[in-house]
Amino acid sequence: MDAIEIQGGRPLKGEVTVSGSKNATLPQIAAALLAPGPSIFHNTPDLADVRTMGRLIAHLGAKVSRGAEVGPHTLRVDASELPRPEAPYDLVRTMRAAVLVLGPLVARMGRARVSLPGGCAIGARPIDQHLKGLSALGAQIELSHGYVEAKAKRLRGAKVLFDLPTVTGTENLMMAAALADGRTVLENSAREPEVCALAKVLVRMGARVEGAGTSVVTIEGVRELKPVEVDVIPDRIEAGTLLCAALVTGGDVLVKGALEDDLDAALGKLREAGATITSEPGGLRLKAPARPEAVDFITAPFPGFPTDLQAQLMACLSVARGASRVVETVFENRFMHVQELRRMGAEIIVDGGHTAVVRGVERLSGAGVMATDLRASASLVLAGLRAEGTTVVHRVYHLDRGYEALENKLLGLGARIRRIRAPGP
Ligand code: EPU
Repeated sequence: MDAIEIQGGRPLKGEVTVSGSKNATLPQIAAALLAPGPSIFHNTPDLADVRTMGRLIAHLGAKVSRGAEVGPHTLRVDASELPRPEAPYDLVRTMRAAVLVLGPLVARMGRARVSLPGGCAIGARPIDQHLKGLSALGAQIELSHGYVEAKAKRLRGAKVLFDLPTVTGTENLMMAAALADGRTVLENSAREPEVCALAKVLVRMGARVEGAGTSVVTIEGVRELKPVEVDVIPDRIEAGTLLCAALVTGGDVLVKGALEDDLDAALGKLREAGATITSEPGGLRLKAPARPEAVDFITAPFPGFPTDLQAQLMACLSVARGASRVVETVFENRFMHVQELRRMGAEIIVDGGHTAVVRGVERLSGAGVMATDLRASASLVLAGLRAEGTTVVHRVYHLDRGYEALENKLLGLGARIRRIRAPGP
């Protein structure tokens, strides 16, 4: 099994370019299912989750090409025919975002059968809001043998009030409503940049979507959509992770592709922690102090501080001057990196499951640690970059789900880091 070995203690310096966004790519390639013909997506990251989505879409009967055939970061989805509108357990089990095919399939094919995702490392993560929305649009929903079956001759527009803002739920409903009969109003929608990016793609396909990026999204259904060719936006979470890497090592790094508007809340906290962040052509530069200052923060749906950067900022705060309070409000089980950071000498206590108190220490010491989920893995890599001595992060397949060759990017910034084969746990 692959592991990542880091000799810590070197401030990162230089320039790095972020890859295309995983969480923008996944819904966009699902949206390709809405239109017969070939859609083309440039700047897609080469990641396990994107490959899984490709396999799923191919399983449905679409033709999917990538890599050598169309270019290294281009993905072509020809959804002319979809003879098998079913997402099997084996694929959904490894990637919850597979549920994103539900809306497009019911809307275009009139039926879909998608395995229920079940829990995952960061929490229960139900899909009740997706189902509530689809049933408001007139889909008949049945749950049996671990699968959701949704059927509708043609969906019809309706008002949907989400109980809480859900990113993939909003995306699923936007896609379903794009081909429904009449107007759909989605209230309490998620406002993440990936939702806006999907709305733009849908509009280019011929859909009528307004309000994405606000909490009320309105969609006037149309009869048919056409294929599209798009460039996927840069990954704001990867950008934030690289900025945190600069901060935790006391470095000076230009992150190309980091967009200020998509990262406002995170940049605010990085500045509070003592970083100087400046806008430069094509990206953001972070100059870090020798040691960060303590910062309190609470995760929240966009435009709040992203849960997907909580673990990485916590790694920075583990070496800060003073004590920080971190509150996780989006997922119930997203502090699994804490145990591992403590093995490296961090002083963190978790209080009641949602709050962590981090007392900054002067030094972390390298250790063997275990990645438990995608963002937790990134946090351990960051801690390893700061720590004295050698850190080995095991189970990096979690990291590979969401970061394309992170170790090479860090290597380019002067980190002493390499991928090694390590015995399985
Ligand atoms: N929720 C429900 N019912 C639903 C849907 C969501 O209770 O039907 C709850 C969730 O359990 C969670 C909260 O609502 O407590 C927000 O979850 P959301 O649905 O917004 O998350 P998601 O759409 O499943 C996306 C990203 C995640 C990211 C979250 C929050 C994709 C493919 N995934 O997940 O990304 O953490 O939004 O921003 O877009 C990651 O990249 O590491 C990752 C986990």
